[in-house]
Amino acid sequence: MFNKWTIAEKFSRSERIIIYQGDCLELLSAIPDESLQLIVTSPPYNIGKEYEKRLKLGNYLEQQAAVIRECARSLSPRGSICWQVGNYVDNGSIIPLDTVLYPIFTSLGLKMRNRIIWHFEHGLHCSRRFSGRYETIIWFTKSDNYVFNLDPVRVPQKYPGKKYFKGPKAGKYSCNPLGKNPGDLWIIPNVKSNHVEKTDHPCQFPVELIERLVLSMTCEDDWVFDPFLGTGTSIISAIRHNRRGAGAEILPQYIRLAGQRIEKELAGILRTRPMNRPVYDPRKAGNSLTVAPWVKAGNSDQPLLIKEKKRKYPGQ
Ligand SMILES: C[S@@+](CC[C@H](N)C(=O)[O-])C[C@H]1O[C@@H](n2cnc3c(N)ncnc32)[C@H](O)[C@@H]1O
Repeated sequence: MFNKWTIAEKFSRSERIIIYQGDCLELLSAIPDESLQLIVTSPPYNIGKEYEKRLKLGNYLEQQAAVIRECARSLSPRGSICWQVGNYVDNGSIIPLDTVLYPIFTSLGLKMRNRIIWHFEHGLHCSRRFSGRYETIIWFTKSDNYVFNLDPVRVPQKYPGKKYFKGPKAGKYSCNPLGKNPGDLWIIPNVKSNHVEKTDHPCQFPVELIERLVLSMTCEDDWVFDPFLGTGTSIISAIRHNRRGAGAEILPQYIRLAGQRIEKELAGILRTRPMNRPVYDPRKAGNSLTVAPWVKAGNSDQPLLIKEKKRKYPGQ
C-alpha cells in the first residue's frame, strides 16, 4: 500500500510522488518500459537562462533527442507526450523549437495529435520584431488507441441557449450542455510578477495549463512525469486530480521550491489561478489606467506623431 502523503526520491511504481534531484536521464533509466501515461514538460529552450548552458542548436537537439527517446520508451501504449516550447533566438533570428523537435518525435513512431497555441499577454517587448505572445504545446501519442477524456475539460459554450431551428431536433438545444471542446488556442496568463503562482524560478508554467492536459490525457492513479520539473508544476497538477506525479530537476534551489509547493498542495494551501477563470480585462474592471491621459486632457501629441509618420512614409 502507498502512503499518499510522502514524497519519494527514487522511482517505484508503488509511490505516488517522486522528486528526483539530478539529471532526468538518470531518473528515466530507473523507469520501466511503457509505464507512464502522460509525459509533460517545458524543457530548457537553450536561450541562456540561469539553469542552462547555451549550446549550438545541433548539440541541443541531440540532448533533447536522448531524453525524448527515453520518454518514448517509458510511455504507456495509450499514453501522451506534451512538449511545451517557445523560440530559440540566434542573433535576432528565431527558430521555433517545435518545428525542429517535431522530426525527433515522429522518427520514434509517435503521432502528433495537436499543436496547441498557448497565448499570453506578458513578456519581453521587442523593438525589431513583433513581441512574442505565444508558445506551443506539441502533443504526441504512441498509438491510435490513446486516452482522451474531453468532458472534464470542456469550457462554457458561447451561445448555450442556441436551438436547432429545423429538422427532427427543431426546438432542442443544439450544443453540448457539458460545454464545448476548448480548441487548440488556449488563452491562459503566463506566470509573471503579479501572478499568484510566481516563485523565484524564471519560467514556470501555470498549474491550470497542465491541469487541462492531465484531466484529458490520464485517468485517476496514472503516472504524470516531467523530466524537467522546475518548481513541480506538473506534479502539483497530478496530485490535484488524484494522479501520481514524478519528475527530475537538476538544480537544488528548484528542488527545494518544488518540495515546498508540493507540500502546500498536499496540505490544500497552495494558491493557484483556478482553471477556466476568464482572463482579467482591465477595461471591463473599470481600471482608470486604461484611458490615455493625452486623450483625456485633450492633448493631441500621439495623433500628431501618427500624422507626422504618415507625411514621411505616405505609403504606409
Ligand atoms: C523551463 S524550466 C521548467 C519549469 C517548470 N515547467 C515549472 O513550471 O516550474 C526547465 C528546468 O529544467 C531543469 N533542467 C535542465 N536540465 C536538466 C536535466 N538534464 N535534468 C533535469 N532537469 C534539468 C532546469 O534547471 C529548469 O528548472
